[in-house]
Amino acid sequence: MDILVIGSGAREHALVWKISKSKRVKKIYCAPGNAGIAQLAECVTIPADDIKGLLKFARSKGVDLTVVGPEAPLAAGIIDEFQKAGLKAFGPSMRAARLEASKCFAKEIMKKYGVPTADFEVCRTMDEVRHALKRLKGPVVVKADGLAAGKGVVVCDGPQAAEDAAKSMLVDKIFGEAGETIVIEECLFGQEASILALTNGVEAVALASSQDHKRIFDGDKGPNTGGMGAYSPAPVVTDDVMDNIMDTAVMPVLSGMQREGADYKGILYAGIMLTKEGPKVLEFNVRFGDPETQAVLPRLETDLIDAMLWTLGAGQPAPKLKWADKSSVCVVLTSGGYPGPYEKGKEISGLERASELKDVVVFHAGTKKPPITDHRSQDIFLTDGGRVLGVTALGKDIKAAIDNAYKAVSLVNFEGMHFRRDIGWRALKK
Ligand code: AMP
Ligand code: GLY
Repeated sequence: MDILVIGSGAREHALVWKISKSKRVKKIYCAPGNAGIAQLAECVTIPADDIKGLLKFARSKGVDLTVVGPEAPLAAGIIDEFQKAGLKAFGPSMRAARLEASKCFAKEIMKKYGVPTADFEVCRTMDEVRHALKRLKGPVVVKADGLAAGKGVVVCDGPQAAEDAAKSMLVDKIFGEAGETIVIEECLFGQEASILALTNGVEAVALASSQDHKRIFDGDKGPNTGGMGAYSPAPVVTDDVMDNIMDTAVMPVLSGMQREGADYKGILYAGIMLTKEGPKVLEFNVRFGDPETQAVLPRLETDLIDAMLWTLGAGQPAPKLKWADKSSVCVVLTSGGYPGPYEKGKEISGLERASELKDVVVFHAGTKKPPITDHRSQDIFLTDGGRVLGVTALGKDIKAAIDNAYKAVSLVNFEGMHFRRDIGWRALKK
C-alpha cells in the first residue's frame, strides 16, 4: 500500500516510523513533513490544511490510505472530502471532530450521555460569567470553545482571575471566534492520564496508557507548552482504572455520537483526571496525542496499518494489540526561549550517535536541512521550531527507560537547547 501521512511534527514522525515497519506498506508520503521524516518518507510541500491540494495529490499518486495527524484538517472536514472522492482516510468526520473543535459540544455530549466530567456552564456574556462563577464556587477553569492552538485553557486561582480570563476571551477576543463562547468549569484535582483508543464507531480498542508533561520547567513549573515529554505506561492507570475509563467515558461517548448521527471513527484521545471520585474527562481530542504518541507507538508490536484499516470498516473483529513488556520515555528538546520567542537555524550535533543507541529512537519535531546554497554539508540538521526533537527510549521498567532516554539526550546538543530533567518522575515515585 501507498500511505500519505499529514502533518509535520514529532507525532507524525512517530506515525511514519511505525507505519514504515508495516509489511503492507510500499511507499510513504508525508505532507508537509520535516527533515527527520524525510529519512523515511517522501515529503511533499503541501500544507496540512490545504485539503484540496492534499486530495489532488492523493488521487494523482493513487494513495491507498491517508493518515491525518493534526486536528485542524479534521475539524475542517478532510475525512469527508476524501471519502466523497472514494479515498480511504483515517480519522473522524467533520461532525465527529467537533468533540475537539468545540469544547461546548463535547461538554454537552458528556452531560447528555452521562460521561463523568467537571461541572460546567457555557457562557457568551460577562453577565453569564458572573452567574456561572456564583454557582460553581471554588476554583474554576476557563476554556475557549474553539481551537486555540492549545492556549485556550486557563486554570484560575480565584474568581477575579476567572473573570479576567473570561473577559480576555469574550470581550477582548484574544482567540477571535474561537473564544466567542466559553466553558467555565469546576477545577478538578488528581493525576492526569492520556487514554487513546482506536475505534470503528461501535467498538473501541485502547492503546497503552501514557502521561505527558505540559509545563516547561522541572517539577511542573512555568508556562504550558505543546508537551515536554511523555511516558508509557502510566502506572496510575491500572487495568481496573483502564476498564473504568473505557466503560464510563469512551464507550458512552461513542454510542452517544452514533445516536447523534455523527459516528466517530479513528483514534479518540481522552484526557483524564483521576479524581478521588474516580476518573473524569478533562477533554477529548480527535487525533493522536503529542508527545504521547512518541512514547506509545515504540511499544506497539502490532501492525498499525491493519489496526487503522479496521477503524474504517464495520463488522470486522477488533484487532488485538500486542505491547512490548517494556516502559518508554520521550524527552522533548526545545529551542531556548520556547514557549516564548526563540531562534531557529542552530546546528544540531550528536543525532547519529544518539540514534545508534539500543532501544532509542529520535523523532524530529522542528528540524530542517541547510539550504542547498549553504556552505555546510547536507548531512547536518538545523533547528526549525520550538520543539525540536523527541528522544524516546525503551527500558525494562520506567527507571531503565528514563536512564536510556537521558543517556541519548546527553549526546545531543544545539545552542540554547532546553529540556526537562524529570520526565517520568511521577511513575518513578509509584
Ligand atoms: P484541555 O485542553 O481541556 O485538556 O486542558 C489543558 C490542561 O488544562 C489539562 O491537561 C489540564 O492540565 C488542565 N485542565 C483542563 N481542565 C481542567 C479542570 N477542569 N480541572 C483542572 N485542570 C484542568
Ligand atoms: N499532549 C496533549 C495533546 O496532544 O493535546
